[in-house]
Amino acid sequence: MMRKHVFASVLWASLIAASAMVPRDLCSTVSFTLPVVALNGLFAAAPDSNNETQVQDFVRAVFSGTVVLPTGTQSVSSTFTINGVYCKPLLVKHNAVQLLVHGITYDKTYWSGLGFGKLYNYQGFASLNGYATLAIDRLGHGANSERPDPFTVVQAPVHVEIFHQLIYAIRSTSVNPLCRKFSKIAYIGHSYGSFLGAGLARQYPTDIDTLVLTGYSTTLNVTTISNLHFVSASVLFPDRFNEPLGYVTDSQLSQREAAFYAGSYNRAIPLVDYHLEDTVTDGEAAGLVSLFQPSPAFSNPLLIITGVDDALLCSPPLSSCLSLLAASGQLFPNSTHFEYSAIPNTGHDLNLHYSAPVTFARIHFFLDKYF
Ligand SMILES: *[C@@H]1O[C@H](CO)[C@@H](O)[C@H](O)[C@H]1NC(C)=O
Ligand SMILES: *[C@@H]1O[C@H](CO)[C@@H](O)[C@H](O)[C@H]1NC(C)=O
Ligand SMILES: *[C@@H]1O[C@H](CO)[C@@H](O)[C@H](O)[C@H]1NC(C)=O
Repeated sequence: MMRKHVFASVLWASLIAASAMVPRDLCSTVSFTLPVVALNGLFAAAPDSNNETQVQDFVRAVFSGTVVLPTGTQSVSSTFTINGVYCKPLLVKHNAVQLLVHGITYDKTYWSGLGFGKLYNYQGFASLNGYATLAIDRLGHGANSERPDPFTVVQAPVHVEIFHQLIYAIRSTSVNPLCRKFSKIAYIGHSYGSFLGAGLARQYPTDIDTLVLTGYSTTLNVTTISNLHFVSASVLFPDRFNEPLGYVTDSQLSQREAAFYAGSYNRAIPLVDYHLEDTVTDGEAAGLVSLFQPSPAFSNPLLIITGVDDALLCSPPLSSCLSLLAASGQLFPNSTHFEYSAIPNTGHDLNLHYSAPVTFARIHFFLDKYF
């Protein structure tokens, strides 16, 4: 009953917000240079990085449920440059910034709806609702110029250390690319960005004041993910990618649409999405399992929000999806406030469905409660 009430009021709020315009000059491109020391996984069963067949077979095996565990660690020590789009709020309501982290085969443009207009623009919605946002390209992806070794460098532990350093820079001094300090950080992830958010909450439990995991649960549907056919990006789209072979991407539009979209959405979006798609590295794939571990010391508020028809991480009907999300909260036993919502008629890419404003409003309703 409670949930229905919340739903109606957030829908109303979102309609009001969607009718206003966001001035363009609220957003700018920023670039962070961050010193990073991370302990990556060392994997015994490494594919030959120059052998396309081996790289692809490795990624497909991992995504079909083969568990690959590290046999040790290897230290990565470097300075990385991370690009982002920073948007200021229209009216400042909180001394808070939302850090937005994209999923696999996407980049920061996911958070502005791949250019499909304001209905899908999470950053625009946040600005109208009084929040600053910073949507970043993860290491090795999007507009970042560096393409480090996909297997040994571009792994979850490096991503987590980068977020930790970035958050430190934003919190500790106003001498940072945002030119101001923020005292509160909300981390909003999508899909793999959510898995990494859980990893950050595990390793650095006080970095995040409020954690929002979208397109998330702890039950991955292996059938759906193994239907995705990953191919080296430089082989599939030689005009767009010059990456090492370990940077792979989806080769089939229909499977991509089936995995990421469901219910009610504009049928023109998946085609554009396919032609804009980014990559996933064999190192990111290898370390996937290690991200589904408890974050027992994380004691701040947590919201999990996933599409009811998400073929990767939930499953209809509503009641089954809700039970999956409730169970996923068990990884965060010490979170003071745990809420979860399942969005009807919506697949994995929540921001790219007609329900996007409802998702956005639900997240901001949650953030407003705790900031
Ligand atoms: C690539 O790896 C496959 C599978 O291990 C092997 O059959 C093939 O000979 C290798 N190709 C080259 C050029 O080494
Ligand atoms: C996993 O997804 C497939 C479609 O890709 C679906 O047929 C199957 O029912 C799903 N399994 C579960 C347990 O939800
Ligand atoms: C749980 O959170 C409290 C603060 O709310 C903290 O004192 C305690 O150490 C946390 N538990 C664990 C297992 O870290």
